[in-house]
Amino acid sequence: MSFIVFKNIEKAFDDNVIYRGLNLSINKGETITIIGGSGSGKSVLLKMMIGLLKPDSGEIIVDKSNVVDLSKEELVKVRSRVGMLFQGAALFDSINVGDNVAYGLKMHTDLTKDEIDEKVDRCLEMVGLPGINGIMPSDLSGGMKKRVALARAIAYDPEIILYDEPTTGLDPTNAKRINNLIIELQKLLKVTSIIVTHDMDSAFSVSDRMAMLYKGKIEAVGTTDEIRKSKEAVVNDFIQGNIGEL
Ligand SMILES: Nc1ncnc2c1ncn2[C@@H]1O[C@H](COP(=O)(O)OP(=O)(O)OP(=O)(O)O)[C@@H](O)[C@H]1O
Ligand SMILES: [Mg+2]
Repeated sequence: MSFIVFKNIEKAFDDNVIYRGLNLSINKGETITIIGGSGSGKSVLLKMMIGLLKPDSGEIIVDKSNVVDLSKEELVKVRSRVGMLFQGAALFDSINVGDNVAYGLKMHTDLTKDEIDEKVDRCLEMVGLPGINGIMPSDLSGGMKKRVALARAIAYDPEIILYDEPTTGLDPTNAKRINNLIIELQKLLKVTSIIVTHDMDSAFSVSDRMAMLYKGKIEAVGTTDEIRKSKEAVVNDFIQGNIGEL
């Protein structure tokens, strides 16, 4: 049964119509990548899933509840199950890396300080940045910030992880590291992952399925193989134009 369902989503920002009856079903435990042109509404889709933005109409079901209708308190509960890596990887600039990663743990768990410290260390190790707890975000490169943001997103063992451009701006070694991490998290923890990316190499290597957003709807959805072999011109052009691009 579908775990996350977008049903007939419509949304416009003033005259700018983003979705025209978008439908998409996501299975528990799968990794699905959303592709589509700049401004097609990929980031907005992720934000709607955790209630940061609301559709004008339609339903967004996350594990049987419609997040569009939830109260603030209920939304907090849904968000506590979701790790989100925002595009641009916003960190809190006034606190150090360790405290950034610990943030969700302090908010959503009752772990002791020692348990939190241990977890923070483990998550920083997982993203290839052990021991940088004391550094301030302003002293990190863009790629490092992104990996710290990912460490923060996975720190409290979310069931769902939303990744907005996880590998953009990373060098090939670190992009590969992030791709492997996405695959590992799915295998080991059975997380459900929704990824937005322009990086087609990454999309094809980590996804179970891919969905293409075009003109306000999901134009095509299928396994990586089905998408790779798609006969649809829109899909084909998009993939060809992007293959190898980082
Ligand atoms: N809060 C907002 N208020 C008004 N317009 C918005 C808002 N958020 C997004 N938009 C507009 O909605 C459209 C879709 O934005 P979105 O960020 O989802 O695009 P995207 O597919 O993620 O693009 P990119 O690949 O460049 O990140 C854009 O035209 C954007 O300007
Ligand atoms: Mg975006």
